[in-house]
Amino acid sequence: MVDFGAQYAQLIARRVREAGVYSEIVPHTATAADIMAKDPLALVLSGGPASVYEPGSPELDPAVFDLDVPIFGICYGFQVMAQALGGEVAQTGSREYGRTEARVVNNTDPLLAGQPDTQVTWMSHGDQVVAAPPGFSVLATTEATPVAAFGDPATKRYGVQWHPEVRHTDWGQNVLEHFLHDIVGLAREWNADNVIADQVEAIRDTVGDARVICGLSGGVDSSVAAALVHRAIGDQLVCVFVDHGLLRAGEREQVERDFVQSTGVRLVTVDATKRFLGELSGVVDPESKRKIIGREFIRTFEQAAADLVREAAEDDAEVRFLVQGTLYPDVVESGGGAGTAVIKSHHNVGGLPDDLEFDLIEPLRTLFKDEVREIGRQLGVPEDIVARHPFPGPGLGIRIVGEVTAERLDLLRAADLIVREELTATGVDGEIWQCPVVLLADVRSVGVQGDGRTYGHPIVLRPVSSDDAMTADWTRLEHELLANISNRITNEVAGVNRVVLDITSKPPGTIEWE
Ligand code: XMP
Repeated sequence: MVDFGAQYAQLIARRVREAGVYSEIVPHTATAADIMAKDPLALVLSGGPASVYEPGSPELDPAVFDLDVPIFGICYGFQVMAQALGGEVAQTGSREYGRTEARVVNNTDPLLAGQPDTQVTWMSHGDQVVAAPPGFSVLATTEATPVAAFGDPATKRYGVQWHPEVRHTDWGQNVLEHFLHDIVGLAREWNADNVIADQVEAIRDTVGDARVICGLSGGVDSSVAAALVHRAIGDQLVCVFVDHGLLRAGEREQVERDFVQSTGVRLVTVDATKRFLGELSGVVDPESKRKIIGREFIRTFEQAAADLVREAAEDDAEVRFLVQGTLYPDVVESGGGAGTAVIKSHHNVGGLPDDLEFDLIEPLRTLFKDEVREIGRQLGVPEDIVARHPFPGPGLGIRIVGEVTAERLDLLRAADLIVREELTATGVDGEIWQCPVVLLADVRSVGVQGDGRTYGHPIVLRPVSSDDAMTADWTRLEHELLANISNRITNEVAGVNRVVLDITSKPPGTIEWE
């Protein structure tokens, strides 16, 4: 997948994998030699935000088109390909955005074979391909675009003006599959079973008889990474779970009981609640809280790791590796380089520094989140963990606006549990990105309950919809559901007399309040 604009390429790469074909993303600045070093069986050129006419628009090494590799161009990639191979791209002044009807004019060619003559596609372009390159057949047109799809079966070069990767394009996935399977001849070999088998072999090769440590957070990534490594090397892996006391209700049990029972991993829990609460005592500033939690997490983990190193030495063994649950989007966004990806610095709070004295094992480094979930299910990781929403490393510590105390944590935990129960009961949790529940511990308001006046704290609901947490919109939850949540919290959680809804998108608000 050659990337002309990040958000397009990741989605296309996922769709290619859904077709059972492994894909990797390279930037459009990669040379033909860089690309061949990966030994690709086919190339896909992604869409992108630019016009091929704009000065400085993303270009591709022209030698790529001399390679003996099938190529499929999408949107901007389709136009780049048309121009490079001798077709014509023009600024005709007509644009197509959104839902556009495409007419198939050649369905004997395998790309659009078996598809309806007119179909809904999703477009986003100003320039048009007005003449296909010599030797290419025009496969589809639209009202504004004389050449909306073309192909040359002899060289296996194809392209479409529309976005086959978006769900709104009715036959999009089918077009990708025709290219990959029928035209290039690739088999459907990329699936969870094969990934597990390959990783198990690779991990065994790397680790030998050394011991391995994994920091478990209870989240999807570290749990699946641990289960995968455990499948490979069994009890050579020891997982460390730091309970910082800032977890949600039931999370420790989920890890200690459910995860351990279903995977068989060896787990060491460090109960550091007192230590964290002690350090957080009197602290109100959000950044200070984050720093304290991050620092104490690393110290606690390092002590636990040192114990395991000592224990291994007594058995004449050596702890050499640390498992990290790095995912492919992190790798792509950090430029695809080696080592641990740095996303936003605060995202590493609750994570580990990369200067620990261990080599990293990152078994999820080539995977997207949905693939990680699928692999987790195959490995028997409990559904509650596999389907879990993102939860920040600093936990409830950054969801209490004000000082963090044991009583306030109990109160927030009770409210958060009610919200999760209601979201699960209505199935809404499967549709939203996450729903932080925040306690405004420094705010009080007057209320009336029973016969008496109350002076309690508000709870904020922050349901958001998002694809990647970089931007988000507040989710329009059903009023009935909101009413149930509000009734239950104010009735069941002593000290809370008001529930409010956060209706801010990101930007300008962040998802978390601190
Ligand atoms: P913000 O608040 O920046 O959050 O809009 C974006 C996403 O990141 C999560 N988040 C964190 N995750 N450690 C984490 O592992 C952190 O320190 C952290 N802070 C925020 C947040 O829940 C949301 O999904």
